[in-house]
Amino acid sequence: SPHLLSVDSLSRDRVDHLLRVAARMEPIAQRRQVTRVLEGAVLGNLFFEASTRTRVSFHAAFSRLGGSVCDTTGFTFSSMAKGESLYDTSRVMSGYCDAIVMRHPDQGSVAEFAAATHVPVINGGDGPGEHPSQALLDFYTIDKEFARLGKPLAGAHVLLTGDLKYGRTVHSLIKLLSLYDPLRITLVAPPGLEMPSHLIDLVASRGHRVEQRESLADDYADVDVVYTTRIQKERFTAEMSEGFSLSRDFSVDRTFMDKRCGRDTIVMHPLPRDSRAEANDLDVDLNGDPRLAIFRQTDNGIPVRMAIFATLLQVEDLIEKDLRPVRW
Ligand code: CP
Repeated sequence: SPHLLSVDSLSRDRVDHLLRVAARMEPIAQRRQVTRVLEGAVLGNLFFEASTRTRVSFHAAFSRLGGSVCDTTGFTFSSMAKGESLYDTSRVMSGYCDAIVMRHPDQGSVAEFAAATHVPVINGGDGPGEHPSQALLDFYTIDKEFARLGKPLAGAHVLLTGDLKYGRTVHSLIKLLSLYDPLRITLVAPPGLEMPSHLIDLVASRGHRVEQRESLADDYADVDVVYTTRIQKERFTAEMSEGFSLSRDFSVDRTFMDKRCGRDTIVMHPLPRDSRAEANDLDVDLNGDPRLAIFRQTDNGIPVRMAIFATLLQVEDLIEKDLRPVRW
C-alpha cells in the first residue's frame, strides 16, 4: 500500500529506515540547510477535527521539502458539509494533490478515504483508532533520549498512563514498541479507560512483559519512560461524561516524579495537555525539569514527518544532492 494508515503496515525494518531518514532531515528541520526536492508537489491537509501539532507540522514538513500545501480545516470549510461522501472527496482531492494527510473523528474513515485513491494518504488521527506518525515521532524521541542518556532500548520499562481506551496515540505506540526487543510495559488507566484487550494480547504474544496497575501510587523507580495522555472527553458518551470524575491520582507531576520515579526517567505526552484547573494529565510544575521531553518530542515531529513524505514520494535519495545553505 502507498499509504500510512496504521502501525500494522510497518515492519521493524521500515521503522528503522524511516528513523534513519528522519535523522538525515535534521539539518533542514533545524533551519541550517534548505532543499526544494518536492518543488511542484502539492499536499492536501484535510483536518475534520481540531489539531495544532499534526496539522502545522505536516504543513511545515512538506513546505521545508519545497512543496506547497492546501489546507481544509473543519467540516464547515469542506463540501462534506453539503453531504459529499468520503469516496467523492477522495476522488476529487486525488486530482489536485500528490499526497494527503487526513484527520477525522470516525475510526476507519481515513482508510475508507484511502481506498478510493492511489495518492499516498497519511492517517493524521481517526477518532479513537490510530495516529501512526505520532507513534513514529514518539519512538524517534525515545531513541534519541536513550542515546543521550547512554541507555539501551532492549529491556526498557515504559509506563503508559491516562486515557488508554480512547487515546489513539497510545494505540499506535504500543504496536510500534511491540516490534522491538522485549520490553516491560506497565499500563495505568482510570477505571473504564483501560487499554483495549486485543492490544494487550498482541503485545504479550510478541514476548513483552505487560502489566496493568490501578494507580500511580506505587514504586516506579525503574521506569525509563512515563508516557501520559489527556482524558479524551470528546469521545465520551453523554452517560459517561455525567458519571465520570477523575481524581488527581492519575496526574504526572513533580511529586510523582520526585517520589516515585528515577532521576533519568523521561516524561512524554503527545499533547495537547489540558491546562484547565480540573485537568490532571501532566502538571505544569514539571516545566523546566530536564526530564520533561514534551517539547523535544514536538520538535521531532518535523524531521519524522519529512521522512514520511520523502519515503512515500520516493525522493529520499535526492535530498543530499539538493541541499543548499539558508539565506535568511
Ligand atoms: N499530538 C497531536 O496529535 O496533537 P494535535 O491534536 O494538536 O495535532
